[in-house]
Amino acid sequence: MAPTKSGSGRVLSRKRKERLWTEVDRYFGNLLAPSDAQLEAVLAANRAAELPAIDVSPLQGKFLHVLVQMTRPQRVLEIGTLGGYSTIWMARALPEGGRIVTLEFNPKHAEVARRNLEKAGLLDRVDLRVGRALDSLPVLSSEADRFDLIFIDADKPSNPQYLEWALKLSQPGSTIVVDNVVRDGKVIDPESAEPDIQGTRRMFEMMAADPRLSATVVQNVGVKGYDGFALAVVLR
Ligand code: SAH
Ligand code: DHB
Ligand code: MG
Repeated sequence: MAPTKSGSGRVLSRKRKERLWTEVDRYFGNLLAPSDAQLEAVLAANRAAELPAIDVSPLQGKFLHVLVQMTRPQRVLEIGTLGGYSTIWMARALPEGGRIVTLEFNPKHAEVARRNLEKAGLLDRVDLRVGRALDSLPVLSSEADRFDLIFIDADKPSNPQYLEWALKLSQPGSTIVVDNVVRDGKVIDPESAEPDIQGTRRMFEMMAADPRLSATVVQNVGVKGYDGFALAVVLR
C-alpha cells in the first residue's frame, strides 16, 4: 500500500495517519456537529453510570441526523440504544409527528437512556422498549408498523437476523443503516473466528444477493477508530 501524504505532501506513518484522521474528524466535528449542553449531559450521564463509550461519534451522529432530514421518516427503528446518544441525534431531526422506536436489551442502559431522553425533552417522540431485540421485533411486526429508517447498532452476530427483520418491517423507499461494519478492516477476513465479523459478513452476503436492496458502505476514520456504516435502500 502506498504511504499517505499529508496536506503538505509529507509521507506519513500509520500512526501519524491515524492522528491526522482523528484531528480531521475533530475539525469537521467541531464545525458541523458541535457538542451542546444536551449532548454533553448524555455523555456525562453515560460515563457516570459506567456505560461503555461505544456511542456513535459526533459526526456519525450528525450523519444520522442529516439522513433523517433528507428522508423525512415518520417512523424510525433503532436496534441498540445504549444511553440514547444516537437516538437523540435522530430524534432532533424528526419531522412533525415523527417517532422513534428504540430497542435495548440491557435494563441499566435503557434506564440511563430513558433519563437522558427525558432530560433532553425528547421522550415524547421515543418509544424505548427493553428486551432482546429478537423478542421485540416480532411484536413490532404484529403491530403492523412499517419503518422508513432503520438503524442497526446492537449485537453484531445477530446482524443477519436484524437485516431480515428490517426488510419485513420496511417498505419501498425505506433506508437501512448498519453501524460497525468495517471494524479496523477485520470484515475482509473470511476466516475470522469472531462471531461479530461472521455476523456482519453474512449480513453483507444477504444484502448483496437481495434484489430488494441497493446498498453501499461508507467507511469512517476518526475519533472512534476505523469503522463504517452500511447504507441501503429498499427498492421494492
Ligand atoms: N446506538 C448507540 C450505541 C449502541 S451500543 C449509540 O450510538 O449511541 C449497542 C447496544 O446494543 C448496547 O447498549 C447493548 O446493550 C445493546 N444490545 C446488545 N445486544 C442486544 C440485543 N440482543 N437486543 C437489544 N439490544 C442489544
Ligand atoms: C463497539 C462500537 C460500537 O459502535 C458498537 O455498536 C459496539 C461495539 C466497540 O468499539 O467495541
Ligand atoms: Mg455502533
